[in-house]
Amino acid sequence: MTHVIITGGSSGIGLALARIYASRGARISLLARTLPTLEAAHSELTKSGNADAIRIESADVADEGQTAAAISRCEEAFGPCDILITCAGIVEPGLFEVVSPDAFERQLQTNLFGSIHAVRVVYAGMKQRRAGRVMLVSSGAGLIGIYGYTAYSASKFALHGFAEALRSEARPHGVKISVCFPPDTETPQFTRELEHRPPEAAVIMGRVAPWSSDAVAGRIARAIDRGDFEVFFGWTLWALGRFGSTVKPFLNWWFDRAILRISRSR
Ligand SMILES: NC(=O)c1ccc[n+]([C@@H]2O[C@H](COP(=O)([O-])OP(=O)(O)OC[C@H]3O[C@@H](n4cnc5c(N)ncnc54)[C@H](OP(=O)(O)O)[C@@H]3O)[C@@H](O)[C@H]2O)c1
Repeated sequence: MTHVIITGGSSGIGLALARIYASRGARISLLARTLPTLEAAHSELTKSGNADAIRIESADVADEGQTAAAISRCEEAFGPCDILITCAGIVEPGLFEVVSPDAFERQLQTNLFGSIHAVRVVYAGMKQRRAGRVMLVSSGAGLIGIYGYTAYSASKFALHGFAEALRSEARPHGVKISVCFPPDTETPQFTRELEHRPPEAAVIMGRVAPWSSDAVAGRIARAIDRGDFEVFFGWTLWALGRFGSTVKPFLNWWFDRAILRISRSR
């Protein structure tokens, strides 16, 4: 039976992915920090599936030791990880000089190093078995730097670089690495984020209506099935992903003018 490990699987996109794999009869391990939220996810998933096939682990992915211990327990219980999805992530928007060094570091530790910590636990086993899939969850803000998102964009751009380099190392060993760049998606994180999103960022990010977490998760699961490397959502992010170096100077020129108009109107 396929064993899917989802960091950040208690909420939003991660939980929507867990629902998909539960409906396919997979064994699923969910990692997140907050136990009551994990328990709520567990009871929701077991209503429609097999309670013995869902496991929850409370761990902070920013902590390498906690992540390694939690994922190892999951592999002991459910067997080796076939699919790892690193969905755990946080966002704390704010101007660079306003965001505290702690908040800046927290976003990098969770979004970038949290993903790397999880991959490190399962990667050697996947290589040995010559099988396994890893999906890293970046963001549209990992394709273009967004006003008010210096830490978040840095963490999500870095994930892309990590994915690209690891993809070429992993490929000869039968391990498939993927990275996806979700757009605004209706999740608890998105609701919290909107309260702090600077109006200048809304000029860039607010152009496209948010996707549902089910639609984003469905697209991610299909990409894992196919073994796609990069996963884009909608034609704007696809164009950014495929032709970023060509289109970004024009986009940034246009965004800069809109941002200037907002700051003048203050
Ligand atoms: N929603 C969007 O618009 C959007 C757009 C692009 C990309 N993304 C990315 O998609 C991923 C999922 O986001 P979402 O919107 O679904 O957010 P969400 O609903 O807030 O879910 C985030 C999940 O990550 C877990 N998490 C956060 N920090 C963690 C940590 N240090 N250790 C372990 N687990 C942690 C959360 O549980 P605990 O808090 O209990 O730990 C929760 O399960 C994130 O990487 C996010 O950056 C989201």
